[in-house]
Amino acid sequence: MENHPPVRVERRAVSEDESRRANGPDWDRYADEYQATHGEFLGDSGFVWGPEGLTEAEAHVLGDVADRDVLEVGSGAGQCSRWVRSRGGRSYGLDLSMRQLQHSRRIDQETGVPVPSVLGTATALPFADDSFDIVFSSFGALQFVSDIDVAVAETARVLRPGGRYAFSITHPTRWMFPDDPGEEGLVASQSYWDRTPYVEVDDATGRVSYVEHHRTLGDWVALLAGAGFVITDLREPEWPPDHDRVWGGWSGVRGQFTPGTAIFGARLGSDRSA
Ligand SMILES: C[S@@+](CC[C@H](N)C(=O)[O-])C[C@H]1O[C@@H](n2cnc3c(N)ncnc32)[C@H](O)[C@@H]1O
Repeated sequence: MENHPPVRVERRAVSEDESRRANGPDWDRYADEYQATHGEFLGDSGFVWGPEGLTEAEAHVLGDVADRDVLEVGSGAGQCSRWVRSRGGRSYGLDLSMRQLQHSRRIDQETGVPVPSVLGTATALPFADDSFDIVFSSFGALQFVSDIDVAVAETARVLRPGGRYAFSITHPTRWMFPDDPGEEGLVASQSYWDRTPYVEVDDATGRVSYVEHHRTLGDWVALLAGAGFVITDLREPEWPPDHDRVWGGWSGVRGQFTPGTAIFGARLGSDRSA
C-alpha cells in the first residue's frame, strides 16, 4: 500500500488486538492519499462495490433502502452511506480510523448530506440488538479483522430478523497471485488455502503496521451459515471493457482473466444461531 513507512513483509498469525492496533493507524496515515486518489471515482454520494465500478444502483444487492435503518461497517468517508441517505435510507457509519471519519465529516459539510458516524470496530458494534434492517461493507473492515466469526456474529446481533447483510471483499482467489496490476499478477504463486495472514512490520520499530486476513469462498459460506444467515447473492463483477482505471492490484490486464471482487448478499433467518 502507498504512504507506508519502510516495512518488511511476513506471513504469520496475528491476533485481533494486533490487527486493530496496526490497521487503525495505518488507515489514519493513508486516509488523505486514499481520498485524494479514489474520492472522485467513489463519488461524494456514490455507492461503488469495488474497483470494477459496479454500483449499488446497478447491482441492487441491498434491496430497497428507503425508510430502512442501515449500518455501514468500515464506512471510510461515508460515500456509500450518503448514497443510501439520498435514496431515503437512515444510514450510519462506523470506522476504525479517525482520519477517515474526518474526511466523512468534511464531505458531509460539502454536500449537506450528513452521515452520523462513530469510531469503532467491526468486532464490537456499539449498537443495541435488533437495531438495523441492513448492514453492509464495501471493502470495509472485513479483510482487516482477525476474529471474523465475532464480526459476523456482531452483525447478526444488531440486525433485525429477516435483515439483509451485504459486503464486498477482494475476491478470495486473488490471494493466490502477487498484488500486481500487470501480467506478473496473473501467475499464481501461493496457495489459495493458506490462511496465514499477510503482515507488514515497521522496520524502524519492529511493530506490526498492516495486516490483511484471507478466507476462502467456503470459509465465507460456513461463517454466514453458522451465524444464521441464508446466502442470497454472490456477485463476481466482470471488468468492463472500456474501464482503464488501475486501483492497486486491480486493472483491466488482470480483470479480463480473473475476478477481483466478490460481493456476498445474505438474509438473517429468524434463528441467529442456526
Ligand atoms: C478500503 S476502505 C473502504 C471504505 C469505503 N467503503 C470506501 O469504499 O472507500 C476500508 C475501511 O475499513 C476500515 N477498517 C479497517 N479495519 C476496521 C475494523 N476493524 N472495523 C471497522 N472499520 C475498519 C478502514 O479504516 C477503512 O476506512
